[in-house]
Formats: sequence, C-alpha cells, structure tokens
Amino acid sequence: MASRRRVYLDYSATTPTDPRVLDSMLPYFAAEYGNARSSHGLGRVATAAVEQSREQIAKVLNCQPSEIYFTSGASASGNLVLRGAVWSARQQGRGGHIVTSTIEHSAVLKTAEQLENVMGFSYSLLSVDRLGSVHPAGLSAVSRADTALISVMLVNNEVGTIQPISTLSAEAHARNIPFHTDAVQAAGQLSLDVQTLGVDFLSLSAHKFYGPKGIGILYARSGVDLGLEPSEIEATLNVPFIVGMSKALELAYAELDERVAHFTSLRDRLIGSVLSRIPDVHLTGNPLNRLPSHASFLFAGLDGNALVTHLDMRGIAASSASACKTGNPEPSSVLLAMGYPRKDALGSLRLTVGLHTTPEDIDYTVDVLSDVVEKLRKLNREMAL
Ligand SMILES: Cc1ncc(COP(=O)(O)O)c(C=O)c1O
Repeated sequence: MASRRRVYLDYSATTPTDPRVLDSMLPYFAAEYGNARSSHGLGRVATAAVEQSREQIAKVLNCQPSEIYFTSGASASGNLVLRGAVWSARQQGRGGHIVTSTIEHSAVLKTAEQLENVMGFSYSLLSVDRLGSVHPAGLSAVSRADTALISVMLVNNEVGTIQPISTLSAEAHARNIPFHTDAVQAAGQLSLDVQTLGVDFLSLSAHKFYGPKGIGILYARSGVDLGLEPSEIEATLNVPFIVGMSKALELAYAELDERVAHFTSLRDRLIGSVLSRIPDVHLTGNPLNRLPSHASFLFAGLDGNALVTHLDMRGIAASSASACKTGNPEPSSVLLAMGYPRKDALGSLRLTVGLHTTPEDIDYTVDVLSDVVEKLRKLNREMAL
C-alpha cells in the first residue's frame, strides 16, 4: 500500500514557487495585464515592472540591466548562445567551432551536436576526471583558432561538482574566445557575479530557485556579438513570470547564508548516514567542492530506476541521475564520462534537499532507502540462484 508520508528530495529537478513570489506575480495576470511594449498607461505599468525586475536581476549578477534578456528558461538561453556565437563567427568569416564539456546538460550538448551534424559547424569536448571536474589545462588541446565559444556549466546537475569557471573563462579570454556558463544549478546557492566568474554569457531558469517554471535569464555581456538584436530575443514579455523570477532571485540572495547553511547541514547528514548505514554505496561527484543541496550515489549491483520507483512507492521523490533521464534504461552519460563502468553507472541515485526539507525527512529517507536497498539486493541474489 502507498505510504502517506511524502518527502520531496528532487529540488535539482525543480522547486516549488515561494508564496512570496506567487504574491508578487498575481497583480500582473489580471489587474495589470498591459503589454510591456505598449506606450499607454497600462503598458507603462507593465514596462516599469519588467524594467524594475531587470534592475533587480542585474544587481545579483553585478551587470548592467541592458545585459539581461528574458527567455523561456536555460534551454532556450543556451541554445541562443551556442547558435548565435557560431552564426556570428561565420558571418565574420571566422569559422564556427564550439568547445564544451562531456558532462553538459543536453540543452548545450545536443545543440552542439546538431550544429555539427546538421549545420556544418564543429565542436570539441573537454573531458572530466572521476570527480566530474573539468581541468583548465585541457583547453589548449581542444580550443582552435576558429573557436567561437567555450561553454562549461557552473555546477553539474547529476553529480553536483562545481567547476573552476573563473579560471576557465580567463583561459578562454587569453585566446580571445567568449565564454558561456550554464549556471542553472548554482542559482540561489553560489555567487552569480558575472564579473568574478569572468563570463560573457550566463543562463538561468527561475524554477530552480523557487520561481515559476517556463521563464529564464540570458546574461549577454555588452559588446560580445550574438548575431541577434535584443528585439529578436524578447517579443511580448511574460510580465508576471518576469516579476516572479526577479523576486525569487532577490529572496534567494537576501537569504543566501541561511539557505546555504540549511542545505549544507541536511546534505551532510544525508551523505553521512547513507555512507555509514548502507553497504556498497559510493558518493559520486566532488565530496568537498559540491553544490550545498546535492547528494548523488552509486549503489553496487542495483538499478537506479528501480530505486526511484521503490522510493516513490514509499512517498519519497528522488531521481536516478537528472529529471530528464528518469526512466531511461541507459546509464547516465555523465557517469560514463567520469570513467565509471556501465554496470556501476546503472546504480545511480540523486537526492537533492531544499528549503522545506527537515532533518526528520532525511532520517526517514535513509531508513526507507536502507530497507529498499537490502530488499532489492536480496531479490537480485535469489534471482541469480
Ligand atoms: C544544468 C541544467 N541546465 C539546463 C537545464 C534546463 O533548464 P530548463 O528545463 O528550465 O530550460 C537544467 C534543467 O534541469 C539543468 O539542470
């Protein structure tokens, strides 16, 4: 019988919208419904709300409001940057080669593949080590005279490893190559200061930091060409979602220290008890340099999808690798790229904590998980007889 208790440990897939965010959005659905492009009074109210949001976001990113664009999310932002960078390079007669890493989100990796396979551009991949870290020294082997963009994520969504973005971007700039980072998972936990990160482009999705789904940000440094006019990126603006996203970002950075302390203590409690109580389990990703909310494991001999199903039956929401890979019988390409053999990579489980997670949720989850792991392993042994 399905359990009544519900524990959500999939905050890297998405977060609930903060009630304060929802409140900030509501007036712009019905009362203040103007088009932010209209010049009349109702339009001007909408324009003011959008421009105030842009300023608020620019404060967090430490950039100019004019460098912030609104998109439907990080997938759209990443697509725009990759396509824009190679297109602009080709128009300037500079070829169109992209460097990215083997562990990027499909928004970047699949776009790079399509640009090469269908559109005649090319790309090269930076490899990662066993902890999922990209090494800046690897850039010299893959960057070329015609490289139009280097794109490396700030935090990997499946294993939580934080990448050395400021070092990578400095290496890129030493070669006159613009740099993009997919900062989706870092939002609300790590600094998004684009000057310190040294990035020319940065992508975000509001639903990862307690904002609404289907709205995101593209930061594009002024003067770095994307082959697009601002009006080609933004048409009729989604005013309530933009207002909600800026409110969510403002709250996330006003409350950053408390949130990070909360995430870190729960994550460490989770990792500590899983590793001490369950046999033959291994933490994936960097044990120290990892996202405060993120825990990811490999369970020897088990299938991550089966673990997710059994946890779900007991009221616990988790994912095997990333939300996009849920149910996919193939092992995670991120874990394969990190050097894990296929049979080990199959046993992956990602548990990510959030604002509403409690220590009791963690203890309950570890109790259930140890029970599920023991039962599934017993079943496997019996079937092997
Ligand atoms: C690292 C990373 N990049 C990009 C995305 C895509 O974000 P969205 O689906 O909001 O466009 C995600 C979403 O899971 C992600 O985790």
